[in-house]
Amino acid sequence: MKINKNAETVLKQRYLIKDENGEPVETIDGMFVRVARAIAEADTLHDEKADTTETEKIFYDMMTNLEFLPNSPTLMNAGRDLGQLSACFVLPVEDSMESIFEAIKQAALIHKSGGGTGFSFSRLRPEGSTVNSTGGVASGPISFMKVFNMATEAIKQGGSRRGANMGILRIDHPDILKFIDCKADNTEITNFNLSVGLTEDFMNAAEAGREYELIDPHTRKAVKKLNARVVFNKIVDAAWRNGEPGIIFLDRLNRDNIVPRQGQIEATNPCGEQPLLAHESCNLGSINLTKMIKKEGGSAVFDWEKLERTVENAVHFLDNVIDVNKYPLEQISFTTKQTRKIGLGVMGWADSLLMMGIPYNTEEAVQLAEKVMAFITEKGRETSRKLAEKRGAFPLFAESTLPQDKPQRNGTITTIAPTGTLSIIGGCSSGVEPVFAYVFIRNIMDGTELLEVNPVLKEKLEERGLYSEDLMRRIAKEGTVSHIKEIPEDIRRVFVSTHDISPEYHVRMQAAFQKFTDNAVSKTVNFSNSATREDVAKVYSLAFSLGCKGVTIYRDGSRDEQVLNIGKVK
Ligand code: CDP
Repeated sequence: MKINKNAETVLKQRYLIKDENGEPVETIDGMFVRVARAIAEADTLHDEKADTTETEKIFYDMMTNLEFLPNSPTLMNAGRDLGQLSACFVLPVEDSMESIFEAIKQAALIHKSGGGTGFSFSRLRPEGSTVNSTGGVASGPISFMKVFNMATEAIKQGGSRRGANMGILRIDHPDILKFIDCKADNTEITNFNLSVGLTEDFMNAAEAGREYELIDPHTRKAVKKLNARVVFNKIVDAAWRNGEPGIIFLDRLNRDNIVPRQGQIEATNPCGEQPLLAHESCNLGSINLTKMIKKEGGSAVFDWEKLERTVENAVHFLDNVIDVNKYPLEQISFTTKQTRKIGLGVMGWADSLLMMGIPYNTEEAVQLAEKVMAFITEKGRETSRKLAEKRGAFPLFAESTLPQDKPQRNGTITTIAPTGTLSIIGGCSSGVEPVFAYVFIRNIMDGTELLEVNPVLKEKLEERGLYSEDLMRRIAKEGTVSHIKEIPEDIRRVFVSTHDISPEYHVRMQAAFQKFTDNAVSKTVNFSNSATREDVAKVYSLAFSLGCKGVTIYRDGSRDEQVLNIGKVK
């Protein structure tokens, strides 16, 4: 197995089964056998005589070749007693004490099993409104969010990673201004990512500089009016300040809600790529695109046949996960199986472009992104339809908005996850993000630092006899290769990093993937420290006009602690 040192470290620390002294009792290979076997087992639910050894081999090969990896909980928990395999959950929070604390309890169970949770707090009555039963005053969504945050703090996910949450508040909630600023001090509510839920009406009002109404969700009465542009600018200010909150476009999430009769989509998972109904969960998996490239006549090109085969096997894998998954709650099991959503995505996109000699910030790269994702979604749907022939369509298919002539096994097929740890295991660039830095230091959870050189750059420089440790240290210090004269111009042109890429190109790439993704795309639009609020506002408008479902931005240096650092060597 071609697994690199960092991958080995991460797997040993966090994925392998350990004994009571914390010593691994399985090998990395053993982990992949465990996962492949447990997931292949689901074939027998549909066909008693199914040859699971063959399926197991296909799944094992695909993972050990690092062509496809399922989300972390599947790697950690498949074939074990816990058996909770999904990364993404959304839980409902209704306007009652029972519901609020029930959601906290459910979230705790999910975090314990390695999953992340998203919530909409939009149904909670605003701070200061009356509480009938006690005659007291309501605490409001932000106070309760702090309780959720504290509960999360006390539980480490699966004993190995910190719990993650998404908190969403609609733009027309009376406490919206407080929400926008509630992470101004970013030592607060640290276990939450926040997003303001924007509506198209609001976006139009902001554009026109009109007023819009704030509605008390409890009484359903308009309680106040605000100028939409002023509020929009406050959201921009906050994001410019420290990247929080992000924004999501609620109408777009609901336009792609395949079963609107079941209710509205009000929230997403913690990183924003998976909109879900209340009590729905979803398991993700990512294809490593760097493994889908072949040499043809001396140049590197996509191997579409291999990609097609990998998509087929990945959809089969993810559909099986739904059946062998041990859900933390019966209600989640039921809701999830009603739509059978899966989230197949990609990682190693930036590295693939490097291999093919295409700079990330070009029209060519954007067009190729559309082509790749259109292909994956189309082949994924074909596979899901073939599965439906044998296994049946998802139970709510008949009431879904999907074309009724071709039953589909899964309500949604594609999602692009951040692949924070999967990309370390896969040894490739994460998700569809550009390469942050070609040589950098990664801070991982327990304070360990890993020095990493991008493998594609390393290979290119070695080919030309230019590779040296000295040069790598200089790249780490500069943060980019674009100013380093010893590196030939043709390499510098292609090896662009995050901060060489304009925010517009970040958004255009996100939009290109979104165009052919059923769910959403996890992407951060990176700004340099000197970027202005106007720059941020422009990106929000661009993302809106290009059809993105949400935007997360980050201005370099705007938080004290950041996971990825450039120009920092020991
Ligand atoms: O690479 P990995 O499978 O570990 O996860 P990811 O692709 O970075 O994140 C996918 C999803 O996993 C997130 O959107 C969350 O729903 C969940 N997650 C979590 O719950 N807690 C974390 N610390 C990281 C991710």
